[in-house]
Amino acid sequence: MRQNLRGKDFLAFKDMNREEIEFLTDLSLSLKQKWVSREPHEYFKGQVWAALFEKNSTRTRNAFERAAADLGIKVVYLRPDEMQMTRGEPLKDTARILDRYFDGLFIRTFGHEIVEECSDWMRVPVINGLTALAHPTQGIADLMTIKEKKGRLTDLKICYVGNLYNVAYTTMIFAATFGMDLSIVVPEGLKANPEILAETERRAKISGAHIEFTQDFDKALKDADIVYGMSQYSMGQSDEEVAALKAAFKPYLIDAEAMSKAKPDAIFMHCLPAYRDLEVTDEVMESEQSVIFDQGENRMHSIKAIIAAYAN
Ligand code: CP
Repeated sequence: MRQNLRGKDFLAFKDMNREEIEFLTDLSLSLKQKWVSREPHEYFKGQVWAALFEKNSTRTRNAFERAAADLGIKVVYLRPDEMQMTRGEPLKDTARILDRYFDGLFIRTFGHEIVEECSDWMRVPVINGLTALAHPTQGIADLMTIKEKKGRLTDLKICYVGNLYNVAYTTMIFAATFGMDLSIVVPEGLKANPEILAETERRAKISGAHIEFTQDFDKALKDADIVYGMSQYSMGQSDEEVAALKAAFKPYLIDAEAMSKAKPDAIFMHCLPAYRDLEVTDEVMESEQSVIFDQGENRMHSIKAIIAAYAN
């Protein structure tokens, strides 16, 4: 079992095996205990990391900054619009310069090929804080939350309602890795990325996971241990596309009636931010079944664990 991430970047679950993902989940839980008991864990005192965010963030950026502070790391926040990237300086040049100044790069960007290119040109760790294809720091926080609330990562069913973006892809890979059943409720015609789908199917064959895409909301909710809500559309889509997606997802609002069709002890998860009354009702968000703020807090513990895995 790999007990650290040295010599490896943290870009997507598709690049990681079950032992590595489980190790990071358990390390997140143990670092949460240290945080609760105020036990110091400044493993990286003296290090300076760069945080390059090409998109807005509430959770990921602040979770990273707090995690870094606890680990003794100073963070330099970089905005592409204040750098020569906007003038067309190639990424491979920017990456090699940042590599000379910093001990690690945490990056939120658009295409997944951007983090892969940074990984190719940088010797220091590169951690993906979200791309079009993957949200792996969210994935570790989600697994940590599932383990906290359900006590296990196997023998579970997730009903996932949302479009086929980065969080869905990360959930597909982890469900297939751990043998969870996953029903993704999406309007007909929406198709998953073929590379992610193939990797999901490969892992599901090994683990026995049942992964399906469906328009049958009731069937997806039946026996679900976890109901996971997510965005229906993404920034940058046209008004017409957004309107069409909102209409197509309308039958799949997660409300109290929907939750009543899952297991009585089902939890509600959402990576946030959530659109109330479009994706999920306020009643469900504020209900006892909702674990969204524990899940949000866990972003900080799990990002800390991912960084700490470079020290172990
Ligand atoms: N879930 C998540 O990534 O939230 P932010 O966009 O606020 O970072």
